[in-house]
Amino acid sequence: VNVCAPSEVVAPQAFSLSRFMAPPDARQRRTLAVGLIGPGRVGSALLRQLRTAQPRLAREAGLQLKLCGVADSRRMWLDHDDPELNTRSHGAQTWRPGDLDAFAAHVQRAGERHALLVDCSASDAVAAHYPRWLAAGVHVVTPNKLAASGPLERWHAIRQACAGGARYRYEATVCAGLPVVQTLRDLLDTGDELHSVHGMFSGTLAWLCNRHDGQQPFSALVREAHALGYTEPDPREDLSGLDVARKLVILAREAGWPLSLEQVEVESLVPPGLAGLPVEEFMQRLDQLDAPMAAKLAEAHTRGGVLRHVAKLDHHGRASVRLQVLPAAHAFAHSRLTDNVVQFTTRRYCDNPLQVQGPGAGPEVTAAGVFADLLRIAESLGVQA
Ligand SMILES: NC(=O)c1ccc[n+]([C@@H]2O[C@H](COP(=O)([O-])OP(=O)(O)OC[C@H]3O[C@@H](n4cnc5c(N)ncnc54)[C@H](OP(=O)(O)O)[C@@H]3O)[C@@H](O)[C@H]2O)c1
Repeated sequence: VNVCAPSEVVAPQAFSLSRFMAPPDARQRRTLAVGLIGPGRVGSALLRQLRTAQPRLAREAGLQLKLCGVADSRRMWLDHDDPELNTRSHGAQTWRPGDLDAFAAHVQRAGERHALLVDCSASDAVAAHYPRWLAAGVHVVTPNKLAASGPLERWHAIRQACAGGARYRYEATVCAGLPVVQTLRDLLDTGDELHSVHGMFSGTLAWLCNRHDGQQPFSALVREAHALGYTEPDPREDLSGLDVARKLVILAREAGWPLSLEQVEVESLVPPGLAGLPVEEFMQRLDQLDAPMAAKLAEAHTRGGVLRHVAKLDHHGRASVRLQVLPAAHAFAHSRLTDNVVQFTTRRYCDNPLQVQGPGAGPEVTAAGVFADLLRIAESLGVQA
């Protein structure tokens, strides 16, 4: 792997809350105008976290986070909204039809010097706006994987758009709130060389592999995970391995390797005959997964190992996502519940890889990952005159 950190995307910033915690000098107040796109599970959790943290950040760090707007797929709310509309609705702010460019322009005007958009959607249409927003100087933070793992052409356009100084951060796209992208960036920025990445990037598949011990059919476990809300509404999004492949692409690109999603060898757990069915029919025919999964488990037992869903990027830049039999003593064999695990093997961490492990999904931890990205950008901003 040709390892050069794409430092144009985000300049390295040593982040420390203690810098925020320094007593604010009146001349050092920073104001950041924030617009949130996608007030769903993660977006709503972020709004709650921002509201709770605001007084502390203002008091202890001199940082004013000014929420100027919220947009979903159909409509948007803007502060300082149209006085005419406000008069008609007795002074209340109102929702109006969505228009993302008008939304971005509003947040930018409100921010004067510093404006930031948080994209908490899973929409490619929203990601398509990033190059334009960044080129206009608006920072972008997101847990949405579609830009960072999408077409290379757009990825390059985003990197170029950052040349003007706007920041694009996406820590929560890989393992939610766990410090995975930042850890890789720090390794590379300090002169280390990436040799390989091994990981379990899907909490859902980790849980399924942990529980799949032959006591009950695999389909029963998928149904249980579905009922617990561990899977996507359509479990094929997890079982296909595509979401995991996207995370691998994001890390590869972070290491300077121009990997595309199509280049990742992905072993789907969904039989081809079930791939195109409506979700209800797929759920009815889930038992078709049982025989192949039982065979894989039997093979693992014969070899004295365990079955794990592993993503791998090797030192030639080859990427794969598949079920693998691992020795019972392997670190991935001991993960808990829906844990994600990532191992970076590098020139410095060569005998024993650097490992990041913990819960890698859920609205609260994902929102916290987004919030931390936002704070890193805020920390790097100039002082407001
Ligand atoms: N949930 C997790 O644990 C987790 C973990 C890691 C990463 N993520 C990522 O975080 C993001 C949000 O996940 P979530 O679970 O919060 O999803 P969600 O609950 O489905 O919320 C998605 C939000 O995006 C909005 N949206 C969709 N299309 C839009 C568009 N074209 N323009 C503006 N807004 C649009 C939706 O608005 P409507 O209601 O109008 O459709 C909704 O508010 C996704 O990219 C996901 O992959 C989630």
